[in-house]
Amino acid sequence: MLEALRAVGYSVQTALADLIDNSITAGARNVWLTFHWNGADSYITLRDDGRGMSEAELADAMRPGNRSPLDERAPHDLGRFGLGLKTASFSQARRLTVASIKAGETRAVRRWDLDYVGQTGEWRLLKTEERSSTPRLAVLDGPKQGTLVLWEQMDRIIGRVRKKGDAQAQSRFLALARAVGRHLGMVFHRYLEGDDDKPALRIYLNGSKADSLVRPWDPFCGSHVATYEFPKETLELHGARVQVTGYVLPHKDRMTEDEHEAAAGPGGWNGQQGFYIYRERRLLVAGGWLNLGYSNEEHYKLARLKVDIPNSTDADWDIDVKKSRARPPPELEERLRELAETVRKMAREVFVHRGARGKAPGTREIDDAWEPVTIRGRLGYRIRRDHPLVSFVMERQGSDPKPFQALLRLLEETVPVQRIWLDAAEKPEAHAAAFENEPPAKVAEVLEELFKSLLADGETVESARERLLTMRPFEQYPKTIQALGTKRR
Ligand SMILES: Nc1ncnc2c1ncn2[C@@H]1O[C@H](COP(=O)(O)OP(=O)(O)OP(=O)(O)O)[C@@H](O)[C@H]1O
Ligand SMILES: [Mg+2]
Repeated sequence: MLEALRAVGYSVQTALADLIDNSITAGARNVWLTFHWNGADSYITLRDDGRGMSEAELADAMRPGNRSPLDERAPHDLGRFGLGLKTASFSQARRLTVASIKAGETRAVRRWDLDYVGQTGEWRLLKTEERSSTPRLAVLDGPKQGTLVLWEQMDRIIGRVRKKGDAQAQSRFLALARAVGRHLGMVFHRYLEGDDDKPALRIYLNGSKADSLVRPWDPFCGSHVATYEFPKETLELHGARVQVTGYVLPHKDRMTEDEHEAAAGPGGWNGQQGFYIYRERRLLVAGGWLNLGYSNEEHYKLARLKVDIPNSTDADWDIDVKKSRARPPPELEERLRELAETVRKMAREVFVHRGARGKAPGTREIDDAWEPVTIRGRLGYRIRRDHPLVSFVMERQGSDPKPFQALLRLLEETVPVQRIWLDAAEKPEAHAAAFENEPPAKVAEVLEELFKSLLADGETVESARERLLTMRPFEQYPKTIQALGTKRR
């Protein structure tokens, strides 16, 4: 059975997150995670300063299934199955040693050794650590309370017998540590950020100074001015409250490159769209559309929704042992779909209009040169004949406007939709924005022509400038527009 428990399907990331759940539940304020490279004898320790366990409590905690999933849990308890400590550890290591100190008591130690259990054929929980492990537990000698989990013989992580000097294996091990850090920064970001009434949790990765702190990753870019936050909605589920907040993240053009890269998240922009389910502020599901009938698509990638659920509704959400799955209860599906629809719609607007949309009250509608139209049930794109520059040129055609009109039609009928669609899907963000990387003089040149056409149309200098300010993409060049009509004639 112990060998079978190894196959529950944890990754190193999800397994360590499961251990930190226990630390948080035990009231820890600090967690120290270290990856020690030593070839085949490499090991990982996770120490916390939580309330610790007495000898009897530790012996019980080491028992697989020490609590029933049907038990009611205290509010904010991150556990559910009575399995995590064991299954998470066995998934990565053949030897699990836990040492713990409860305030006022002596240190207790218990150890599971899968090889020993296999040899004896008995459920023998050992009461001492392996002698070679003693120095690895020494960090627990100073503090008054806390718990240390030690993973050794990590066959799954290290692979076949590795020499200590195997530089490649060592760098893979350290890269894994960094990946774990990113995962923890995401899963526990709300704990790491702290709350008004709760101090921030600190997770140290391979160190004990500020530079080894795991940094939180906020999927919603909450601190960015261009993030749009929908009002929070509370749904009822069997007397419990489920809270949903929609977010539309800022368009790439409204972020610096670093911000944009950081906001993408571990799965990339496309992979991280959708729902984020938090159980007691701990992230279970990071993106995706919960089988509500949507798939991840490029133009909805700015849509993310935060869902907060309490631990009393675990069964309704079908939470799994690894704490990495949750399925919406049927009662909530319809409303979640509606909320998703609203957020997706706005995300698409922002994506399509490069962040220029999201018309604030009192701002003007922006004039486009192109408009999408439906002709006999089919989509097409037309150049607007009432666009000032278009109508200006049209009028200048004199007695024969037909060639010019024919040119417009030709362009409209042959918009390379397929090509654009393919390029955008294969290389998102590769298309240049209007006048991107063009010298300002080029923009001014085009603006000058438009300005002339507006004046010829009977507009005053002032009203022409006003018009230009509402014409895409010139609304982004207010300075150049103000300079129009002031210099050379
Ligand atoms: N770091 C810790 N500090 C204090 N107590 C702990 C710690 N880790 C585990 N425990 C105790 O051991 C018990 C068993 O932990 P385990 O992770 O196996 O199950 P759980 O947290 O109750 O449920 P789940 O399977 O959902 O994680 C916990 O309920 C807790 O009482
Ligand atoms: Mg647990």
